[in-house]
Amino acid sequence: MDTHSQTDIRDAAAPTLQLLLSVKNIEVVYDDVILVLRGLSLDVPQGAIVALLGANGAGKSTTLKAISGLLKTEDGEVTRGEINFNGERIDGIDPYKIVRRGIFQVMEGRRIISDMTSLENLRLGAFTRNDNQIGADIEMVYNYFPRLKERTGLAGYLSGGEQQMLAIGRALMARPKMILMDEPSMGLSPLLVKEVFSIIKQINRDLGVTILLVEQNARAALSVASHGYIMEQGKVVLDGTADELRDNEDVKEFYLGGAGDQRKSFKNLKSFKRRKRWL
Ligand SMILES: Nc1ncnc2c1ncn2[C@@H]1O[C@H](COP(=O)(O)OP(=O)(O)OP(=O)(O)O)[C@@H](O)[C@H]1O
Ligand SMILES: [Mg+2]
Repeated sequence: MDTHSQTDIRDAAAPTLQLLLSVKNIEVVYDDVILVLRGLSLDVPQGAIVALLGANGAGKSTTLKAISGLLKTEDGEVTRGEINFNGERIDGIDPYKIVRRGIFQVMEGRRIISDMTSLENLRLGAFTRNDNQIGADIEMVYNYFPRLKERTGLAGYLSGGEQQMLAIGRALMARPKMILMDEPSMGLSPLLVKEVFSIIKQINRDLGVTILLVEQNARAALSVASHGYIMEQGKVVLDGTADELRDNEDVKEFYLGGAGDQRKSFKNLKSFKRRKRWL
C-alpha cells in the first residue's frame, strides 16, 4: 500500500465535527444591571442534539433567548462574548433575521396562538417562506403528530402534550437548520415525555435538524442527546458526552433523582472536577 492511499484512509476516518453553533464566553445583562450569564460557552455540532441542563434560574432560557435574539424583547443584551451560527456572528441581530438564518426557538410554555386553529398555527410557522412546499410540510408534520390532524378546533383547547407537539410542528414549518427547545417535557405525563422525545429524535435523524434542548428532565434529555452541558448561576460547570454525564456521580445525585430538594451546588462538591471540553 502506498503512503498516498494510507493518507486517504486516515482522512476518511477522521471525524469531522463541524460546528453549527458556537457560543463564546457570553455575558447577558437584563435592564442594564442584572447580570445573568457570566461567561457562558457552548458548542453545537451540525446535525447533533445537545442538551443544556440545570436547575431553576440557572440561565438556560436566557441562553436560548440570547441565541434566538429574543432577549431584545425583554430588555436583555449580550454585553460580552460572541455567538456564531453557520460561520457568521449573530449576537445583536434582530430575532426575525435570526429566524431567516435558520434558527427557530420553541419557547418555554409552548406559546402557541390559542385563538387560532392548529393548521393556522402551522401556517404561521412558515411565515418566512415563499415556496410551494408548505402544504407538503404540513402533511409531514401531521405524519409526525397524527393527533394534530384530528384536532380541528382552536389550539387553546388542545391538551398540554398536543400543544407541545404543535409548537414543535410549527418550528418545523420554518424549515430551520436548528431548533432551540425550551423544556419540551414540561407538564407532560411520563408516557407523553417518552413519545415527544422519541419524535424529537426521529425529526433529528430524518431531517438532519440540529437541536439544542434545554431541560430540567435530565434523564429524558440525555436519552436523545449526544452531548450535554450543565449550567449553574449563568455558567457551564460541567460538560461531556451523554454517556459520561449519565455515569457521573454528581449528575446522578443532582439531576437523575436522589437529591430531591436537598440539591446542593456543584461548586461546593469536593468530587467536582470540570471535565475536559469535548470539542
Ligand atoms: N426579563 C428578565 N428580566 C430580568 N431578569 C430576568 C429576566 N428573565 C430572567 N431573568 C433572571 O435571570 C435568571 C435566569 O433566568 P432563566 O429564565 O434564564 O433561568 P432558567 O434556567 O431558564 O430557569 P427555569 O428552569 O426556571 O426556566 C433568573 O434569576 C431570572 O430571575
Ligand atoms: Mg427556563
